[in-house]
Amino acid sequence: MDHREAFIYHILMKRLIIANWKMNGSIDLIQEFRSIKEVPGTTVVICPPSCYLPLFTDLQLMLGAQNSHYANNGAFTGEVSATQLKELGCTYVILGHSERRTHFNETDSMVNHKASKAIELGLIPIICIGETYAQRQENRFEQVLLSQLDRSTHGLPRHRYIIAYEPIWSIGTGLVPTQNDIQNVIALIKHRLGDDILVVYGGSVNDKNAADLSNIPGLNGVLVGGASLNVATFQSIINAFQA
Ligand code: PGA
Repeated sequence: MDHREAFIYHILMKRLIIANWKMNGSIDLIQEFRSIKEVPGTTVVICPPSCYLPLFTDLQLMLGAQNSHYANNGAFTGEVSATQLKELGCTYVILGHSERRTHFNETDSMVNHKASKAIELGLIPIICIGETYAQRQENRFEQVLLSQLDRSTHGLPRHRYIIAYEPIWSIGTGLVPTQNDIQNVIALIKHRLGDDILVVYGGSVNDKNAADLSNIPGLNGVLVGGASLNVATFQSIINAFQA
């Protein structure tokens, strides 16, 4: 499926349930994922470590990667290009996740270059932004989010990328912003980039809070980390988003 077809899905009001396995998972887990089913109103995207991508080709799920490089190819040991990911059947790529920004020093500018190349080569970037706990407490989070948003999406063609709002203090902690706080950030993003921009939420999404999250107006889906590593839990999250 190419990006145009993928966007037609969204226009039909399907919500994205994205599994970010991070550097987790195994061949056994991929076998277990054979039982995962989309439900009406959802599109399920699995983003495993890139070495596992070829093992998903016969599963009826959309595929995404967790990173891609800004060059077509070349002497970049350890990196993977958007062209190679396309070749393996990826439609999406997560870019600028806070773990990449923190552990691998990725900047907004690098995220922007990577997103630009990914779009050029036919992938849909899922661009992550998010504030720290201190920035939220000090009420600086809007300024931080808008700066990340502007720099990371600068010059990118509209309708060709998705924004993931992932507060850093919420990732892997069990802490989730209130529905109202998430709704306000969605409004902030849409006000900046346009009402039709797709926004997903990520950070401690699980089978207990998925139903509440599914009720947030304007939310186009969720990015699920830890809870996507258990098949039953992940299926419950998908089910909570049934139209
Ligand atoms: P989490 O991670 O669901 O484990 O909090 C989400 C993410 O980092 O994408």
